[in-house]
Amino acid sequence: MGISHSSIYLASTACVLLSSGIVWQKFCTSPPEWIKELDALGQPRKQKLLGTAVVCGGSIAGTVVARVLADHFDRVILVDPELHDIEKPKTRVMQYNATHALLSLFTDGARRLWPNFDTELKAVGGRLVYADLQLHYSGIAVPAPYGDYSGGRLPDSLAMRRPATQKALYALLMQHPTAANIAVWPGTVRGIEASDNRSSIRSVIVRKLDGTQVVVNDIGLVVDCTGRIQAGMKWLETAGFSLPDSLRCSYKPNIRYATLCFSVPPELESRLPIPEFAINSVCQYIHTQHFTYGLSVTALLKTENNTMQVMLTSSEDNLPRSVPEILPFISTIRGHAPLASWFVKTVEMLCENCDDPSFDIIKIPEQSYVKYHSVPTGALPSNFIAVGDAHIQLNPVHGQGVSKVMLNAITLNSLLHSPGSPRPDPSQRLFGALLQEERCSDATRLHDYGSPACEPMAGETRDNGRLARWFELKLISAATQYEEVASVLWHVRNMVAAERALLAPTVLWKALWTRSLF
Ligand SMILES: Cc1cc2nc3c(=O)[nH]c(=O)nc-3n(C[C@H](O)[C@H](O)[C@H](O)COP(=O)(O)OP(=O)(O)OC[C@H]3O[C@@H](n4cnc5c(N)ncnc54)[C@H](O)[C@@H]3O)c2cc1C
Ligand SMILES: *[C@@H]1O[C@H](CO)[C@@H](O)[C@H](O)[C@H]1NC(C)=O
Ligand SMILES: *[C@@H]1O[C@H](CO)[C@@H](O)[C@H](O)[C@H]1NC(C)=O
Ligand SMILES: *[C@@H]1O[C@H](CO)[C@@H](O)[C@H](O)[C@H]1NC(C)=O
Repeated sequence: MGISHSSIYLASTACVLLSSGIVWQKFCTSPPEWIKELDALGQPRKQKLLGTAVVCGGSIAGTVVARVLADHFDRVILVDPELHDIEKPKTRVMQYNATHALLSLFTDGARRLWPNFDTELKAVGGRLVYADLQLHYSGIAVPAPYGDYSGGRLPDSLAMRRPATQKALYALLMQHPTAANIAVWPGTVRGIEASDNRSSIRSVIVRKLDGTQVVVNDIGLVVDCTGRIQAGMKWLETAGFSLPDSLRCSYKPNIRYATLCFSVPPELESRLPIPEFAINSVCQYIHTQHFTYGLSVTALLKTENNTMQVMLTSSEDNLPRSVPEILPFISTIRGHAPLASWFVKTVEMLCENCDDPSFDIIKIPEQSYVKYHSVPTGALPSNFIAVGDAHIQLNPVHGQGVSKVMLNAITLNSLLHSPGSPRPDPSQRLFGALLQEERCSDATRLHDYGSPACEPMAGETRDNGRLARWFELKLISAATQYEEVASVLWHVRNMVAAERALLAPTVLWKALWTRSLF
């Protein structure tokens, strides 16, 4: 009797464990909200929302948001001081000439907003290629999950320099039928006015390029897309909305970022020793340093037409400023395995054979995050939101900023489609829904704290995130051995799976079981 009792007990415990394991696995691997909501992106509503939507800033976030809002409002005003001549290089975006690697979520969203996205981008030389970053962590290759897709067709990303990408997006915006709902105002948003009881924004003040001041009334929605300036906070404070003192928090990764751009004649390109498997990837090579060595990232990207970029970063002021300094700098990069020899050889050939590459070096300022979701309910105007860098900046070496704009756009679109609109009241709901982003920003920040050069956020030390970094190294190690782990890591990094996917039992045990390579 005793034996059979305990075996029933054991069997039922095993059943409970097994079934809760299955439930846990299912929960972790279920698609995130924004992926379920992707299909609604680009779908117009029949009865438009009341009032005028004002998009403040017309860079990546402003362009994408204006396109989304034109599906919901009859009148969208897009304000930016540099929209009068799209051919002119933007001067107000510090990273305009810097290397940008885009993730598959961006392409996926852009195709829904602009069905002719592929045709138009290819026409101006853009490369639609596998969203494989060819990532090497401290010298060790972290594979992309080609096996998950039939015929090995990994989802696409776009390889193109930022100025060309941005011009093409703006052209798409203006060609789309919804452009009839969009007025482009070259100018600057100066501020906002609150409604009598401060529950919403009543008007927006714009200074046009000729110096005239215009007040836009009957506001449906105001979207802060001013990027790094995060101007919305100042507008809210000046208009009398009381915001908590600690609303904006920031930390300093202390990195410098160099983009070298080479014009590569086709004859030279055909001789470069880039392996076949790397040609049709969004990056040909990325090397990320183990954080204890620093936050350095080294990359090679084939961009539109005959251009190639080499990207180098450093915590110190030692980045190359002339061709003879490039290879000596690269030779100082340390890892658990050396840089791929073909990569070094390719850079050497570019240096020897290409005329005058351009050098763009910037020091990344602090990364700041406005915690709008922490403002008590009712204190923010119901018709204000912030999208893109105006809300959260992420350390660019992780390559997520532009795709995060798309994530915001998907969430905004589905909130505006959800029952409860026509009266748009998205502020609190959007910032609540964007908590996922906070986790994204947590993950990059805690990674960055591994670097001795990083200055943490007020109230934190570099010890914060020790466990997260340990787990990150275990995951990367397991990804080199198990396809499943490599797949989950790739999907999370491309923002097509939720972070919880990393905690699925089948992934977790593999990560914990594998001895760290680092
Ligand atoms: C060095 C570097 C490299 C990066 N690399 C990558 C990468 O590889 N992949 C990636 O995805 N992301 C990358 N990023 C991040 C990416 O560049 C940003 O996330 C992206 O530019 C955010 O776009 P945005 O539209 O929010 O802001 P921004 O591009 O900064 O644009 C802000 C716009 O607002 C306008 N503006 C400002 N004030 C006003 C006002 N008062 N009224 C009207 N308009 C106003 C400006 O003129 C500007 O056009 C990188 C960033 C840096 C710094
Ligand atoms: C980008 O490069 C162009 C041309 O080389 C230059 O005119 C412009 O000032 C640069 N922009 C920034 C923001 O550095
Ligand atoms: C790239 O080449 C295409 C033609 O193939 C041309 O139309 C386009 O303007 C070029 N793009 C750039 C940015 O020079
Ligand atoms: C503020 O006023 C508007 C009408 O102007 C009203 O609809 C809303 O309920 C008021 N909000 C509060 C919090 O009193």
